[in-house]
Order: sequence, then structure tokens, then C-alpha cells
Amino acid sequence: MRGTRHTAGVDRVAPGGYILDMTDLVTEAPAGLDPVLQILIAPHPSLKQRAIPVLPSDRQSVSALVPRMFDAMYRAPGIGLAAPQVGSRLRLVVVDLMPGDKRQPIVLINPEIVAVSTELFTREEGCLSLPGQYADVTRPAEVRVRYLDEKGAKRDISADGLLAACLQHEIDHLDGVLFIDHLSPLKRNMIMRRLAKEQRLKDL
Ligand code: NI
Repeated sequence: MRGTRHTAGVDRVAPGGYILDMTDLVTEAPAGLDPVLQILIAPHPSLKQRAIPVLPSDRQSVSALVPRMFDAMYRAPGIGLAAPQVGSRLRLVVVDLMPGDKRQPIVLINPEIVAVSTELFTREEGCLSLPGQYADVTRPAEVRVRYLDEKGAKRDISADGLLAACLQHEIDHLDGVLFIDHLSPLKRNMIMRRLAKEQRLKDL
């Protein structure tokens, strides 16, 4: 997810150590070793595919991919990136809301929304796969997400505010859903046409 144009206040994030011991893993990819991951732009067909669960045998690919995903996300810049956006089919998401401009990376493997609030909230969303496009999206205001961290430990986050929206947006990507799929067909088509036009102009 791209940060919204209207910067929201710092959100409450679950306290505790769910990100404390991953800083060694999520440092930026060393320059010059791997090219920066290309973020796929809609309507790329990979963005519509359902991703597949990460298995223990995917451990190596996940450890190789995670730092490169953070690198691509920070460069974009964005606050969330899902593996399908960089051409991987794994159910893997990275998120960093950068509260107070400090890095607070979260890796979510096989994330699952296990509870949602009945209360809804509307906020403007953007997406690194739909550069320059923004729209108001309504989603549950709070969610609980179960996932495995980068060490394979089971974790639970209860999130509200921007983090709740970001987690739902990124988990949507794992099911081939983009934020524009939450809009009316009219708005969705308008955004896709505008994006296509802007991409054509950019490529001239
Ligand atoms: Ni997105």
C-alpha cells in the first residue's frame, strides 16, 4: 500500500516484541548484489492470481525475498508490499508504517484475518501497483490477523487505524484483489483508464 496523501496520525500498534528480533533480517538488500525488485503494475495478470501458502520448504526463498521486498517497498516508497506484486506466488506480506519516521518492519507469512469489527472506516488508499491512483475505500475499522513471523513463530496482531487498512489491503493482494475491486465498476474503470493513459505517457 502506498502511504495516503493525507498523512494519518500515528496509529496505535500492538505493543510488545513482535518486531523486536527481526531487524537483522530486514536490513536493506546489499547494493549491487541483486537488482531491485520490479513492482508489477495493474492490469498485470499476476496481480489477479490467488497466492499459495508458504511451506517449510519455502524457507530459503522467503529469506531471500523478504529483504528485497523491504528494499523495493522503502524505495517506492510504500508502507506495505505483497509478494504477488513482485511476481512471487507466495502468501507473504511486508509492512512498515514508519511511525515517527522510524522503521518498524513487520513480516507476515500466511497471514489470515481471523476477526473483523462490525464498525467500518473509510480512508483514502493507494497502491504501488496502481501508481498515482487513490480512492476512498471502506473496510472494517479493526481486524485481528494471525500469521507466522519470519522465524516461523505464530503471531497475532490486533490492528486499528492505518495498520488495519494496510493489513487488509495487503492480504487482499494474496487473493488477487486490488483496492479498486472495492469500488463501483464505474470508479474502477475510470482509475484503470487513467492509469493506462499515465503509463503510456510515462513510456513515451
Ligand atoms: Ni497494494
